[in-house]
Amino acid sequence: MSYGYDVAGLELPHCQNPKLQRVLAAALGQTGVATQQDYPYWDATYFGLHNVKIFQESTVAEQAQILDHANRELFQEAYLVEKAGMGYMSKMVLLADTIEERMLYGLFAADEATHLSQLSHFALEPDLAQTPNTFLRFLAALVESQDKSVLLFVIQVVLEGWGLSHYRSLAKECRNPALGALFTSFLQAESRHHGTGVLLFNQTAVSAASRSAIGEVLTQFLQMVQVGPQGVVAAIAQAKGGLSRQQTVHVLEQLDTEAHSSHRLKVLRSLMHTESSQEIVQTLEARGMFQPLPAVQCVLHEG
Ligand SMILES: [Fe+2]
Ligand SMILES: [Fe+2]
Repeated sequence: MSYGYDVAGLELPHCQNPKLQRVLAAALGQTGVATQQDYPYWDATYFGLHNVKIFQESTVAEQAQILDHANRELFQEAYLVEKAGMGYMSKMVLLADTIEERMLYGLFAADEATHLSQLSHFALEPDLAQTPNTFLRFLAALVESQDKSVLLFVIQVVLEGWGLSHYRSLAKECRNPALGALFTSFLQAESRHHGTGVLLFNQTAVSAASRSAIGEVLTQFLQMVQVGPQGVVAAIAQAKGGLSRQQTVHVLEQLDTEAHSSHRLKVLRSLMHTESSQEIVQTLEARGMFQPLPAVQCVLHEG
């Protein structure tokens, strides 16, 4: 079901009016200290590429290209998540049941607008915003949901909780000190977004229909995690002009996809464990959704 407008707003155009842009800059209190000089933002080790034979054997130019693709994908994802987050928080302003809840979501929408603006200083040209990845497409569909308990649980309890550990690792490993510090500065607000989700979800009476909807959405999400670091595989494939099935399996093995997914699935499982979500976790467990897949089962594209 749709509201007739696009909550995630991934394709919203930029405003062309310089006066409005000046008002926005003033409202944001921008200082503009970004620098794209320390690029790539994350190095080969961050992506596990140092263990991948096809990467080691590539020319310096190809290696730079692979790293560039992987960096853009990673940065773009954070950028678009903040963009979708701004729409999500604004929607939750309208769905609030109390005045305090409405105030909080109003403030959270401002947090995400601030994050988006701060990240935009580090955005790379050309802008890849037109090509949201599988996760972003999933997120954009999810924020259209009308079921508040689905939104609270999946977006705030699980995804924002996940975002916290993701941003922590992006910050820690970032080669650009200004961008690293920026991700660290997001943590307090993101932890408030997550904590509010946990509080509100635990005081919600979740219907059987909502529980089953949450189970379906999380199954879809966990499937994406089970198949490992597909963004890194895509970055290699793009630079090398495609990978055969066999090459893809080797790349995934060398990226240690099972250990990679296993760690993520554990973190996600512990995030899903709240007072009132035991049944959901049990359903997902029965479906084997917390089991990482071996490399051979993670080949999504060929050629
Ligand atoms: Fe944010
Ligand atoms: Fe957030």
